[in-house]
Amino acid sequence: MQFNLEAERSSVAYKLLVGLVAPRPIALITSIDENGKLNAAPFSAYNYLCVDPPIIGIGVTNRPEAKYLPKDTARNIRRTGEFVVNVVTEDIAQKMNVCAIDFPPEINEVDMAGFTTVSSQAVKPPRIAEAHAALECREFTTMEIGRSRIILGQVVSVYVDDRFVDPAGPYIKAEELHAIGRMNGLGNYVKTRDAFINIPRISFDEWEKNH
Ligand SMILES: Cc1cc2nc3c(=O)[nH]c(=O)nc-3n(C[C@H](O)[C@H](O)[C@H](O)COP(=O)(O)O)c2cc1C
Repeated sequence: MQFNLEAERSSVAYKLLVGLVAPRPIALITSIDENGKLNAAPFSAYNYLCVDPPIIGIGVTNRPEAKYLPKDTARNIRRTGEFVVNVVTEDIAQKMNVCAIDFPPEINEVDMAGFTTVSSQAVKPPRIAEAHAALECREFTTMEIGRSRIILGQVVSVYVDDRFVDPAGPYIKAEELHAIGRMNGLGNYVKTRDAFINIPRISFDEWEKNH
């Protein structure tokens, strides 16, 4: 089948893209508003984009049911300029999912999920204590594209539980971290436990020898 996305509704683009750009890492973002009120929500339109400087990108769709107002995360980041990406692993997956519930404003999703927080090093929003790694970010820029906000964040400090770092690199012990990925919507995720395959890069010399 072929789909012409210039002629399709955005809901079709969503279904195709989340199914095909997968698995995606999940950023559980903590942010605060201008009064210091804490917010946490997961986003899988997320990846790192470059390292010099270290930039990550997140796509946040405005809320259609609220006349396309930005979600709390996007609004907080625009107003306070800081946020934390908490890495989502198997052990905190169910709690992460609770943070995506549309609770009324007076209810704190961090408490509802059973998460606790600890202070970050370089930014005001705290990180989730139960997350084994967190990227502390300052807003680099926010682009408004159609009904979404594309947020670029500069990673200014990184927390990783010592258990998951090989200081020689430093390398992340990704086989032990058990990060999860989001698949085609519909509540589908993948585990990375016992799922690694190793495909070493091939130099031109090696390629020539074998062909
Ligand atoms: C695993 C997962 C990934 C999500 N990814 C995105 C995303 O990339 N962009 C988006 O706009 N919403 C995404 N959502 C929905 C938001 O988490 C949800 O709308 C949340 O309530 C927003 O909260 P906020 O208003 O506190 O920012 C995702 C939900 C889940 C469960």
